[in-house]
Amino acid sequence: MKIAVIGGTGGQGLGIAIRFVQAKEDVIIGSRTIEKAQSAVNKIKGLLGKDNIPNLGAAENPDAAKQAEILILTVPLVAQKATLLSIKEGAAGKILMDATGPLETAIGGSPTRCLYLPEGAASERAQKILPETTVICAFNNISSGALMNFNEPIDCDCLISGDDLESKKTVAQLIEQIPGVNVVDCGPLERAQIIEKITPLLIGLNIKKTCKDAGIRITGIDPECKLY
Ligand SMILES: NC(=O)c1ccc[n+]([C@@H]2O[C@H](COP(=O)([O-])OP(=O)(O)OC[C@H]3O[C@@H](n4cnc5c(N)ncnc54)[C@H](OP(=O)(O)O)[C@@H]3O)[C@@H](O)[C@H]2O)c1
Repeated sequence: MKIAVIGGTGGQGLGIAIRFVQAKEDVIIGSRTIEKAQSAVNKIKGLLGKDNIPNLGAAENPDAAKQAEILILTVPLVAQKATLLSIKEGAAGKILMDATGPLETAIGGSPTRCLYLPEGAASERAQKILPETTVICAFNNISSGALMNFNEPIDCDCLISGDDLESKKTVAQLIEQIPGVNVVDCGPLERAQIIEKITPLLIGLNIKKTCKDAGIRITGIDPECKLY
């Protein structure tokens, strides 16, 4: 499947891109500039020790969205709206996984606190901005550090939420190719209001050095009823 990581030049996007490259998916790194996208591709080549990665490409965000079948948004909250508007055409009719953390840093505050957005969750905001796209909240609880530690499995569940069951099945199959990661479907998109608030909690634990690359596991899941 062709995946575009929109704003894939930061820690979270790079880590997700590497993991899907390893899973042999076709990955395009998106950026506001082609130079930055290409430089992210070169960085991944260096990290993986390969001169040529045929399933990895670079594009400006709108082109990346047009080329891909599935999109993943990895930009800070302050950039969420403008970035989504820039890919609106290419994202129509597709699935977009939104990793945006509604952190207080967007207004100069702490990464251990959440903002309360009028739309609810950041992913609900994304859905309002892109009504013709199916938005799934995903990757909020997995740290860039764990993603970038690409020779190791990740000891963390990926909590997702969204309003379309078939789309959640599609993203669950993709995400569970990442070693160690179980997808937990938490229900409708509005549950992103809860999922996204776990992120500043995990960041706080990392800052206090209680954990390194803190993650979360949900126990007691019946493997036969994994989707909501
Ligand atoms: N880092 C983590 O461990 C982690 C964990 C869970 C969730 N998240 C969430 O994932 C998202 C990305 O995190 P990150 O740490 O990778 O972010 P980041 O490094 O700060 O930014 C990622 C990319 O977003 C674009 N961007 C940044 N500021 C922008 C602006 N003002 N306007 C337009 N584009 C801008 C840049 O891409 P270009 O310059 O190439 O366009 C940048 O490389 C955030 O919402 C974060 O809350 C992160």
